[in-house]
Amino acid sequence: MKQYNVGIIGATGMVGQRFALLLADHPWFNVKVLAASPRSAGKPYHEAVGKRWAFRDQPIPEKLKDLVVMDATADIDAIASQVDFVFCAVDMKKDEIRALEERYAKAECPVVSNNSAHRFTPDVPMVVPEINPEHIEIIKAQRERLGTKRGFIAVKSNCSLQSYVPALHPLMKDFGVEKAMVCTYQAISGAGKTFETMPQIIDNVIPYIGGEEEKSEKEPLKIWGHIEGNEIVSAESPVISAQCLRVPVSDGHTAAIFVKFKKKPTKEEMIKAWKEYSGVPQELSLPSAPKQFLHYFEEDDRPQAKLDRLIENGMAVSIGRLREDIIFDYKFVCLSHNTLRGAAGGAVLMAELLAAKGYFD
Ligand SMILES: NC(=O)c1ccc[n+]([C@@H]2O[C@H](COP(=O)([O-])OP(=O)(O)OC[C@H]3O[C@@H](n4cnc5c(N)ncnc54)[C@H](OP(=O)(O)O)[C@@H]3O)[C@@H](O)[C@H]2O)c1
Repeated sequence: MKQYNVGIIGATGMVGQRFALLLADHPWFNVKVLAASPRSAGKPYHEAVGKRWAFRDQPIPEKLKDLVVMDATADIDAIASQVDFVFCAVDMKKDEIRALEERYAKAECPVVSNNSAHRFTPDVPMVVPEINPEHIEIIKAQRERLGTKRGFIAVKSNCSLQSYVPALHPLMKDFGVEKAMVCTYQAISGAGKTFETMPQIIDNVIPYIGGEEEKSEKEPLKIWGHIEGNEIVSAESPVISAQCLRVPVSDGHTAAIFVKFKKKPTKEEMIKAWKEYSGVPQELSLPSAPKQFLHYFEEDDRPQAKLDRLIENGMAVSIGRLREDIIFDYKFVCLSHNTLRGAAGGAVLMAELLAAKGYFD
């Protein structure tokens, strides 16, 4: 496979650090550039990250630690000239992120983004590679709008839905999901925090995560949407109602979900659909693809964030506690690692899909 030079924009942040770890030894992608805000620019990576390095058991990769951090905004042209594409995960205002990502795309530097700013731009694909890989075909229309040959933006969806959307997806074709109610229990790394930087979460549950419930309800419909002309048209169903809570867990978002079907399956049919489901990443044997996308647990006390978030390097989704419900048809619990499958890992997998399909050439 061809090798690609890549940049990490927002390299000093929680997601950016994950990218640094995942990409340090990637078989296709070679990190050439690290960039962040003017606060970090000009410093070696290890100094710019300093005490914020969030992984006690994994040091900063040797080959990245002395790389001098560039300024994500001021150095766009210099960055674009050194890399084949960038990963982007920055904490800035939405309109600033939207403009920044478009500037990279217009500098002919494709952007694989973790940010929410462009998720509802109609010609920007929001891809879970096992679910809607065909949405990358909209990139042709996006390039026409931007007037670019290579440059484009592709985004990852929000981390909250990375467990229950994969769990619902294999059930949709045969049984039709009519509506779902979900309550998420989200880890503090999802807010870019550790227990040191978010002490108020210890012995506590915070029943509010700004903007998260709307994303959890709306984004799945774009993922299940279809391309029509120059845009992706969101699906109209299933209706999803979500409540999102922050809980004292370092990594791993859990979701408790209730589902009503058009045609109620048996429990065995649901488990079989999960066990047998695989997608394009598995077909193409992409380097970051889990071998088994969905893992079903028979044990009553699984999945657990601490025990199961790292299954298949944090790229698989775990499901358990499937049982009938007295209001909906069924209820179950699912789990995914929010900074791996839910953020950096999911973005790397999407980039592998784009690379395999020739979008960075
Ligand atoms: N954490 C998750 O699980 C998760 C999941 C999905 C999506 N996301 C999204 O990913 C993005 C980053 O999240 P995070 O948790 O990694 O945030 P974070 O830890 O707060 O890191 C933010 C990053 O943005 C950079 N930054 C801030 N202001 C900037 C500016 N003006 N110009 C350039 N870079 C700037 C920071 O650089 P400095 O260090 O120089 O300030 C840092 O590298 C957010 O949009 C978030 O919504 C996060």
